[in-house]
Amino acid sequence: MTAIAPPTSIDATVKLLDSANYVADRALATSVFLMLKMQRPLFLEGDAGVGKTEIAKVLASTLGRELIRLQCYEGLDIAQAAYEWNVQRQLLAIKASERTTGGHIETAIYSDEFLIKRPLLQALQGKAGAAPVLLIDELDRADEPFEAFLLEVLSDFQLTIPELGTITATEPPLVVITSNRTREIHDAIKRRCLYYWVDYPNAARELEIVRRKVQRVRKEDMFKLPGIAETIDWTRALTALDVIELSKENINDTLGVLLKYQDDIHALRTRMQTVLDESKSQ
Ligand SMILES: Nc1ncnc2c1ncn2[C@@H]1O[C@H](COP(=O)(O)OP(=O)(O)O)[C@@H](O)[C@H]1O
Ligand SMILES: [Mg+2]
Repeated sequence: MTAIAPPTSIDATVKLLDSANYVADRALATSVFLMLKMQRPLFLEGDAGVGKTEIAKVLASTLGRELIRLQCYEGLDIAQAAYEWNVQRQLLAIKASERTTGGHIETAIYSDEFLIKRPLLQALQGKAGAAPVLLIDELDRADEPFEAFLLEVLSDFQLTIPELGTITATEPPLVVITSNRTREIHDAIKRRCLYYWVDYPNAARELEIVRRKVQRVRKEDMFKLPGIAETIDWTRALTALDVIELSKENINDTLGVLLKYQDDIHALRTRMQTVLDESKSQ
């Protein structure tokens, strides 16, 4: 993975997202451009399925960066989000040094090798010029105290581990925070970020999104490629089933709407994960 420098204009940002089949309007592309340029976290709020998480994935894949994902949930704590000491290994090290030195502990048990690095800490340790994308997904699911902790990390891109010291990022990670807005996120967090409300696409953009996904299927070597009628049927079927995110399962279950030959269906099923990954981010 070779890190690519961020785009230098809004037009270039539109192109970048487009190259990964992400259909963005100019306002969103502007926010993404600014986030990269100003090195500020991007806070994306919107209903489920409107393409918030996908932005982070697309940024990572197009800029050749590692994607570090912190999925938020109720009860998420620092141990899961930032770091944890590997107590078991520490105890073993103490026992081992007791054996060799007769009680005198020489091993520094609060050192890097005993540290379990979770997403927030990992994200601060990227190489210069290759800062990772840090996706803090569905922050509204975490509890409010966690936000206070997060604020510290996002303010200075540093994290203090009492036993070890302060770890500062050589280069700030590219941070994308998402929220489905099941509750309001604290103002202090929002103030640190650039904010963008991701709305449902208009008809033209939605059509474009569907077109891209179906065209990816058309690249497969098939006996009978899906035609326009099949595309429309398929969209209807997915809508009827309330599908908001394409997954292996729901594509599998609806393939008969898109393809009409058993050999084609079988061929696509076996390559489903690849096709799905490629249609999401190329
Ligand atoms: N603008 C878009 N361009 C291309 N695909 C999109 C776009 N918006 C959403 N999608 C697709 O819709 C699905 C849901 O997007 P996702 O990012 O998971 O939604 P959210 O995180 O907002 O719930 C994904 O399969 C994604 O590829
Ligand atoms: Mg999401």
